[in-house]
Amino acid sequence: MEHFLTADDLAKSLRRDVGDGLTASPKTLPPKWFYDERGSALFEDITRLDEYYPTRREREIIAARAAEIAELTGATTLLELGAGSGEKTRLLLTALAGTLDGYVPVDVSGDFLGEAAAAIAADHPGLDVRPVVADYEQHLHLLPTGDRRLIVFLGGTIGNMPPAERVDFLGGLRATMGPDDALLIGADLVKDEGRLVRAYDDASGVTAAFNKNVLRVINRELDADFDPDAFEHVALWNAEDEWVEMRLRSLRDQTVRVGALDLSVGFAAGEETRTEISAKFRRERMESELGAAGLRLAEFWTDEAGDFSLNLARPR
Ligand code: AVJ
Repeated sequence: MEHFLTADDLAKSLRRDVGDGLTASPKTLPPKWFYDERGSALFEDITRLDEYYPTRREREIIAARAAEIAELTGATTLLELGAGSGEKTRLLLTALAGTLDGYVPVDVSGDFLGEAAAAIAADHPGLDVRPVVADYEQHLHLLPTGDRRLIVFLGGTIGNMPPAERVDFLGGLRATMGPDDALLIGADLVKDEGRLVRAYDDASGVTAAFNKNVLRVINRELDADFDPDAFEHVALWNAEDEWVEMRLRSLRDQTVRVGALDLSVGFAAGEETRTEISAKFRRERMESELGAAGLRLAEFWTDEAGDFSLNLARPR
């Protein structure tokens, strides 16, 4: 496994994010820190909820289009940003078997990456599986280049970035791409507000537990004393920015101590800390943001219901 990011780098960026975010007004915490072992398990549970349609819809599109993707790209290397989309990756690997010789899963955490890569290598003898631990917002230029790469970024995770950051990120990717490379992006679509909010505020409370998990991560990693029960999960649709926001609302006036930062943070009753944005797209927005990054939208596929999109982009 190749490392461009060490545990120490990660610890530093957590400190910076928490220090910056909790002293800002309004307070924010980036979604990146949801995913420790418990948070990743909770996210897996989310993907199986009735209300959370994106994973099923994206899988439906990939299943329907995998052969076409293989034919259109003839990819020799599959580079996956944010590994752990398991079944969807397998569909692509199987469809691409005729041309593919390398699979490069990239993730900020090596914890699950090694195991996932080993499982895939076992099922695909002859495939060169080279996991890389890297922050794909920082280390794009260090990732392996190749003849005909297919870079995939699934799940709708691109929606975690605000628009300006998305264009920078796409531009950074574009800069690493050769003329025969392609980029496959999963993006959730704008739809009925009720369905959007329910997808992020499920009846069984799994998403609430996932949201509050960031407080436990901070408690453990930065010696803080958050009481997760003193915060309430909030999900709302921001119609102007066309994104879902998750927040944690303080249920009372309280002061939280973050030992490792020697920081005391006051929360007023009702004060909300934003923990995630999950942007929802329209075809036009995808086209224009790709365009701004020097890419063109070659294919725009949706599921039957038109809930989710899979976007194949090429250098212009
Ligand atoms: C993994 C970022 C795609 O935004 O839908 C699920 C994360 N947050 N429920 C999303 C998430 C709350 C998810 N992504």
